[in-house]
Amino acid sequence: MSEETSDPTAVAEPVVTGEPAPVVQSVAAARGPLALEAIGLNKDFRLSRTQTLHAVQDVSLSLYKGGVVALVGESGSGKSTVARMLAGQERPTSGSVIFNGKPVDLKSRSAFRAYKSEVQYVFQDPFSSLNPVHDVGYHLSRPVRLHQGRSVEVQREVMALLEQVRLTPAAQFKPKYPHELSGGQRQRVSFARALAAQPSVLLADEPVSMLDVSIRLEMLNLLDDLRKRLSLALLYITHDIASARYFSDEVLVMYAGQVVERGPAEDVTQQPAHPYTQLLIASAPDPDNLGSVLRSGNVAAGAARIGRATSGPAPVGCPFATRCPFVDDKCRAENPALQRITADRAAACWHLDRAAPALATGAIA
Ligand SMILES: Nc1ncnc2c1ncn2[C@@H]1O[C@H](COP(=O)(O)OP(=O)(O)O)[C@@H](O)[C@H]1O
Ligand code: SF4
Ligand SMILES: [Mg+2]
Repeated sequence: MSEETSDPTAVAEPVVTGEPAPVVQSVAAARGPLALEAIGLNKDFRLSRTQTLHAVQDVSLSLYKGGVVALVGESGSGKSTVARMLAGQERPTSGSVIFNGKPVDLKSRSAFRAYKSEVQYVFQDPFSSLNPVHDVGYHLSRPVRLHQGRSVEVQREVMALLEQVRLTPAAQFKPKYPHELSGGQRQRVSFARALAAQPSVLLADEPVSMLDVSIRLEMLNLLDDLRKRLSLALLYITHDIASARYFSDEVLVMYAGQVVERGPAEDVTQQPAHPYTQLLIASAPDPDNLGSVLRSGNVAAGAARIGRATSGPAPVGCPFATRCPFVDDKCRAENPALQRITADRAAACWHLDRAAPALATGAIA
């Protein structure tokens, strides 16, 4: 579509004022050791000689082994760009990615391969991610050989992977071609292919959004089970905040390239602080009935309502200004930075006192 910004001097700095981004403790830290960290990631795309899109602005997040962090936001908010930068597929305009305590440097092919075996990216579309001319066994044996070496018993490993993603009896699925599988079965093959690398981090980009609503819950349960058994650090990307609450520890809400709110999944969904999160929650089905809701398809209806309300981010000031019921002149002029609300929560809004009075009064200075 367009190329990466090559001349940083040609890019206008985003207007971000207020305090520097706060350090917020992630509740996912209780699950296990830190695996992957994004610090102040920015990504600009040059759209034309005069136009630059700030697709991702100052995004920081931490993934811990055995923990799930959800990145939630509507289409175009920058979620996949964050994931691609974490996966090493897109170079950040600025900011850094830290893996196991060291800055990620993917200059050589071998470094990229070693990193890829630790950090796997599962795409949203199970239909285009598998090659129609190869069977399931081929799709899995290649990464097993690549990442686990020649000494491993490849076919036994392939069978074990199929069992891990509950494609059983494994012997029946191994010779099947993608067109012989349902969407859910193909997504299971995609998960198995990612696991063949024996990664410590899994970036799951809208893994259930293209699947039939009737099997979404089952797939999320499978992901959760894999996370637990393999102690994976999981980034779950979704436009559906109800499913984020369902199985993530921490939620980061993105709007127009920025994280506008973050905190424990339960708190953010029960008592949203930012007006955009409030809109997402109001448009989503009742999270307490998520199981039945996922099966009924109301999630998609909620997302569609949000989509219709979009009128684009404001060019300056707070990106949510064009949609916010609390907007005033200050919002139109200056973009608020994330402010800490409690030790593990933060939101980027000038008027939390009006948007979430109960939270604002207990705010940590
Ligand atoms: N290669 C690219 N060139 C130009 N714009 C891009 C490119 N990749 C993504 N974008 C734009 O960046 C924004 C964020 O995209 P994306 O990260 O895919 O959002 P999401 O995953 O939340 O839907 C969108 O406006 C998208 O059009
Ligand atoms: S109140 Fe202002 S700063 Fe807060 S979300 Fe609305 S427009 Fe943005
Ligand atoms: Mg995306």
